[in-house]
Amino acid sequence: MDNNTKIPVHVSIIMDGNGRWARERGQERVFGHKKGIGSVRASLQAAAEAGVKYLSLYAFSEENWNRPQEEVDYLMKLMFQAISDEVEELMRNGVRFRVLGNRARLNPVLLDAIRSLEETTRDNTTIDLIIFLSYSGRWDIFQAARKMALEYLSRPDGAAEIEAMNDPALFSRYLVTDGIPDPDLIIRTSGEQRLSNYLLWQGAYSEFVFVDKMWPDFGKEDFFAALSEFASRDRRYGKVK
Ligand code: IPE
Ligand code: IPE
Ligand code: MG
Repeated sequence: MDNNTKIPVHVSIIMDGNGRWARERGQERVFGHKKGIGSVRASLQAAAEAGVKYLSLYAFSEENWNRPQEEVDYLMKLMFQAISDEVEELMRNGVRFRVLGNRARLNPVLLDAIRSLEETTRDNTTIDLIIFLSYSGRWDIFQAARKMALEYLSRPDGAAEIEAMNDPALFSRYLVTDGIPDPDLIIRTSGEQRLSNYLLWQGAYSEFVFVDKMWPDFGKEDFFAALSEFASRDRRYGKVK
């Protein structure tokens, strides 16, 4: 990487195309999910090398629960396995691991493994690896509104306090991403050009890079290429330059 390029603080990836990758090879869809783990590792390495501080990955959407049960079970099992296998590697590389999403829908055994890895890696500071699991942007905004309303309305002057609020940043503290900077760059693989209910609030000023490769074929060079593309963008945030 060229040291003079602008490095995004937070890169997020919509990892798409596992099923098609497998089908193109005459295999079951789940074969592509398994292969996709390699691309997660490659992206994490590339992100850490480049000095990215937060790498987040859209691993499973709220809508993905509507897939065939067998595929859902396989994906959850894969997540559990990856968590169990990667502890040492994450510790060696200073990676803080976190999972964000609707935890109420996750299996308790998986949830325990997640909590344990989050606890083990909580003081690591090289890079944050954030997995969005059972996540959707509308769910996040909805749960935030609900949590905020319940908190304020439990106080005597809560309704008046809500009425007096004038800074949207106060609301974003209730999103599951509280404390994490908004993504500077969102990459989506597989050639699809849509958000699929991903970071709707947080992605308000993200730059997008769409890559035609399927996720299992995405490697370090592709990650670096996306960073170069990002560096060439002119972010204006609605202002005149
Ligand atoms: C992305 O690959 C992984 C998940 C959404 C869990 P897909 O499973 O969506 O693969 P395609 O898009 O059907 O090829
Ligand atoms: C988006 O991919 C969700 C994840 C990558 C986890 P999908 O494959 O579920 O999205 P659609 O169905 O093509 O919009
Ligand atoms: Mg897909």
